[in-house]
Amino acid sequence: MMAKDQATMDVTLTMDTAQPRRLDQMVQGVLGGAMARPEGPLKVRGAATYAAEHAVADLAEGVLVRATITKGKVKAIDEAAALKLPGVIAVLTGGPLLRNPAQGQASEAPEQVLPEVHYFGQPIAVVVADSFENARHAAQTLRVTYTEAKAEVDPETASTVERPKKSQIETGDFDAGFQAGAHQIDALYHTEPHTSAAMEPHASIARWDQGRLELWGSYQMLKHNVAELADAMGLPESKVRIHAPYVGGGFGGKLGIAPEAVAAAHAAREIGRPVRVVMARQQVFDMTLRRTETAQRLRLACDATGKITALAHEDRVSNLPGESYSEPVAQGTHFLYGGADRRFTHEVARVHRPAAGSVRAPGEAVGMIALECAVDELAEAAGIDPVELRLRNLPKTAPKGDLPFSENALGRCLKEGAARFGWDKRGTTASRRDGDWWVGLGVAAAVRTNVLEESIARVTLEPDGSATVATDMTDIGTGTYAILSQIAAEMLGLRPDQVTVKLGDSDLPKSSGSGGSFGAQSCGSAVFLACQGLRAALAKRLGTTEEELTLKDGTATSGNRRVPLADVLDSGLSATGHIKPGDTEDDFAIAGYGAHFAEVRVHAFTGEVRVARMLGIFSIGRVLNRLTAESQCHGGMIWGIGSALSEELQHDRRDGRIVNHDLAGYHVPCHLDVPQLDAVLLEDTRDDQANPIQAKGIGELGISGAAAAIGNAIFNACGVRVRDFPATPDKIFPHLPFDDWG
Ligand code: MOS
Repeated sequence: MMAKDQATMDVTLTMDTAQPRRLDQMVQGVLGGAMARPEGPLKVRGAATYAAEHAVADLAEGVLVRATITKGKVKAIDEAAALKLPGVIAVLTGGPLLRNPAQGQASEAPEQVLPEVHYFGQPIAVVVADSFENARHAAQTLRVTYTEAKAEVDPETASTVERPKKSQIETGDFDAGFQAGAHQIDALYHTEPHTSAAMEPHASIARWDQGRLELWGSYQMLKHNVAELADAMGLPESKVRIHAPYVGGGFGGKLGIAPEAVAAAHAAREIGRPVRVVMARQQVFDMTLRRTETAQRLRLACDATGKITALAHEDRVSNLPGESYSEPVAQGTHFLYGGADRRFTHEVARVHRPAAGSVRAPGEAVGMIALECAVDELAEAAGIDPVELRLRNLPKTAPKGDLPFSENALGRCLKEGAARFGWDKRGTTASRRDGDWWVGLGVAAAVRTNVLEESIARVTLEPDGSATVATDMTDIGTGTYAILSQIAAEMLGLRPDQVTVKLGDSDLPKSSGSGGSFGAQSCGSAVFLACQGLRAALAKRLGTTEEELTLKDGTATSGNRRVPLADVLDSGLSATGHIKPGDTEDDFAIAGYGAHFAEVRVHAFTGEVRVARMLGIFSIGRVLNRLTAESQCHGGMIWGIGSALSEELQHDRRDGRIVNHDLAGYHVPCHLDVPQLDAVLLEDTRDDQANPIQAKGIGELGISGAAAAIGNAIFNACGVRVRDFPATPDKIFPHLPFDDWG
């Protein structure tokens, strides 16, 4: 037995320089493989416990009440009548309910003050009863009176429009450069608002124990969610613990806490009993964050060879008055196309619609619809094939800031994708017909900025040679449990099933959480660093160095020594890995790249669009798990189909209320809308500047540009250029060539 060495080797890394590719030297051979989710069997058996399902004794049920005016003040709530109804325990309003930082209503609202209303459907009260049915009945019959004020709900005519200074960018002389182009495009695009539409609705169970709040919720970023909840409840963060071991989809809607978490916490404290608040689907639509609609004007000019010389991307988005967030519409544009003369303007219209926030690739998802369709229009105007035009415009450095790219395989994705998809068979506009259907192909570039977030993980080698990973990271359906067990198994020479991954408890080491496609790389890097610490500690015990140490199949080898891992672990070893962003993110343009190809069929008499085939090809650095990575790409491409063809939140023009606030009216793609999707990953790429595992974000890359490929395919099929998305039949039908009605 080796000498005891309980001192752990913790490893902290700030990403200031390129990192060596240590993972490529590991020999277990499990990383990158198409490993199924370890928690999959629990999920299909219904044994993975989601937020509303935790067994907490003595639960009371809360139901949120929504405002039925757009703007004004609650004058009175008839609590007395509600309290006479069967089973009703309390009607709560004011106080913490209105102090929900994640929803932006951070007004200092003292207890007992009746709420101000800023949008139709805003939560104004919670009714608590002994059963869900009793709480819902009381909530639905609760008498609320209001004093109404004038509201503005239309972003186009809003009287208050702000222009954040840092988003107004002009380089060169855009007007002169645009005029001087050999070919020009000037086009106005619109996209409608979106909602996250996660399968699992927001739900929270709150229980207080000696002044500490314990909450089972469905959230993406627990360290931030703890801070938000503590702030809302007036508690130190140490007095809040959140559990979210399984999350049924996030898509941005669960980045921050939502009203039901605060309502449950507040109600449980008031009545001295655990309270569960589950949002109905309509409530999720009405009172969690939406993605703004956008109006985008794109102007592009190129020279006779197709080289883009001038580019303007100007947009208007909306949000509630006082909200700091605004959709970064032009974010992707800065990574894609050069040109000396450039203009970016960004306007935020203040409207009384539900607060706007991050939904599935905020920025690129909608910005690249307009940009990549406009590039297609430019290719058409210049008479150059759209793949070729993009290849002629590959920048050598990032257009914004002239930074070197850390890794950018856009050109390769365009070429390989075109070859795999059969792009050479694309005909001229409206030249292919199959019975009643026009058939066409379209292409778009994909780009999504890549972000590394601070993240901590603890990895323990147990005395029996198995390992445990512990971090407050979440798995929102993305595959976190799988990839973290693969990273640890690869580094420690174990089978993935010898690694237990503990996630979704805010008492564990604080991770990045899941959001902005930064989760896998950030928490994965922390696990990698912790394993490096364990490897160093093991090497020390074996009298060798980490570089000389080989770990495979539970055996440690160094030179001519071979020892079963369990023999050197004694009472176990534990190490903490801590990754922090550093200078590389300022010194390099770091983004994932790719290309989308779509084949669509447009019905010649109705304008109905069907996607027949789609291929996405992506460069994301190291692939951690081919199965879950491809699944992320498929999901992104499906969202692309949704934003191209069907997804739109409809706000009533009179009061801004969301009319289609359920999944019957808000059309995410269903199985019949989605054809066979081909997701291709360039598995040999690495990004040395991104993080120590050389892997980049992927979930949102699959969305960015996907809808544009479909829009461009519609044009190639039938010659109708859609600039208002989604491209529902009413926008296509009037413009179809009708000569062949016969
Ligand atoms: Mo994402 S929209 O940052 O979950």
